[in-house]
Amino acid sequence: MNFLNEVASRYPEAISFASGRPYEGFFDTALIQEYLETFARYLRDEKGCNDAQVNQIIFQYGRTKGIIHELVARQLACDEEMLVDPEAIVVTVGCQEAMFITLRALRRDERDILLAVSPAYIGITGGAQLVDMPVWPVRSGPSGIDLDDLAAQVRQARKAGLRPRACYVMPDFANPSGVSLTVQLRRDLLALAASEHILLLEDNPYGLFHDGVHLPTLKALDTSRQVVYLGSFAKTGFPGARVGYAVADQRVAADDGSVSLLADELAKLKSMVTVNTSAVAQAVVGGKLLRHDLSMAAANQRETAVYLGNLKHLLAWLGQRVPDGDGSWNCPAGGFFVVVTLPFAADDKLLERSAREYRVLWTPMSHFYASGEGLRQVRLAYSQLTPELIETGLDRFAAFVADQGHDVAGRGR
Ligand SMILES: Cc1ncc(COP(=O)(O)O)c(C=O)c1O
Repeated sequence: MNFLNEVASRYPEAISFASGRPYEGFFDTALIQEYLETFARYLRDEKGCNDAQVNQIIFQYGRTKGIIHELVARQLACDEEMLVDPEAIVVTVGCQEAMFITLRALRRDERDILLAVSPAYIGITGGAQLVDMPVWPVRSGPSGIDLDDLAAQVRQARKAGLRPRACYVMPDFANPSGVSLTVQLRRDLLALAASEHILLLEDNPYGLFHDGVHLPTLKALDTSRQVVYLGSFAKTGFPGARVGYAVADQRVAADDGSVSLLADELAKLKSMVTVNTSAVAQAVVGGKLLRHDLSMAAANQRETAVYLGNLKHLLAWLGQRVPDGDGSWNCPAGGFFVVVTLPFAADDKLLERSAREYRVLWTPMSHFYASGEGLRQVRLAYSQLTPELIETGLDRFAAFVADQGHDVAGRGR
């Protein structure tokens, strides 16, 4: 990612399909004040706080598990039909901290490993590296996860004396693949996780950006506390707030025989990493939730329309500009990403050339694999662009692909 940022900074005039950042057209600093005041009013009116208490909650150090846990639980009920105990929620500094402390909690010694559907988001593989937890890739296949491979990896790990603790998966509009799991596959995955006694780490920052068909999350289908749900307000709120959360309702036995929630174990770790998530940031996100009747789907109607419009535009323009032999691509029904398969290897060197000579940026898919796969694939993110930029960017991308394809064909003759 440092390399991608570095290339982007060297070619500022390049149109970037590289970064999965949210659309900026509706950002407005006046909203921050409005949301903050909405949250303060909620503390007074709904929670019965006086002015001194409101000031204390927003200005002071705060509860480690967060101050908007009840609002998050209400949002999950409203948007996802997920009924969760607010006490099982830990509000974190972005989803990244939720991933990190969850992995840290799961990693007891060198026998513990993480399984992750491959290609995988770099935040999870990076987090696992930080806690010294090897990541074993699980094939995704065309459906998003190959359950036979998952079962085989679990067996193989156990045979080697290792403990597969959890499998990381993105059932909705995965980053980077854009793929979503069918409801049946979600149910089968839950059944397999239960029979193999592994947790599922469900990461879902993009699920609300759908075209009207909203599938149940794994956590909504989870009847045996098999799923730790990793949430982010980076895309539905805004990334500058750095607010995410974990729903960890698993029961954990302590050495003294007492039983607590995994969320409480995560909170202990969090207290040693970030103490608590910024109360100001939580208040702003909480205010946004309150302003939209606890629905991030409602809060993001305009953004969702932008993303779906951009996706439609991107797919149509790819069809017009990239001839059959030059590439193929998947067609997700939402999210931020489309994957294009090319007839040549699209590596970092070619990205540099694409930026320099064609002024267009994309992400090599090989970055999301552990070893040598995805070489002919690139990820295109369309969330931050306008239809005009998508057209110009894809004209440039198509020219790059055609010229590169001819160079490769020429060398082969
Ligand atoms: C797969 C995935 N998980 C989580 C996140 C969000 O993390 P955070 O809330 O830390 O910004 C992202 C953002 O890019 C992501 O793509």
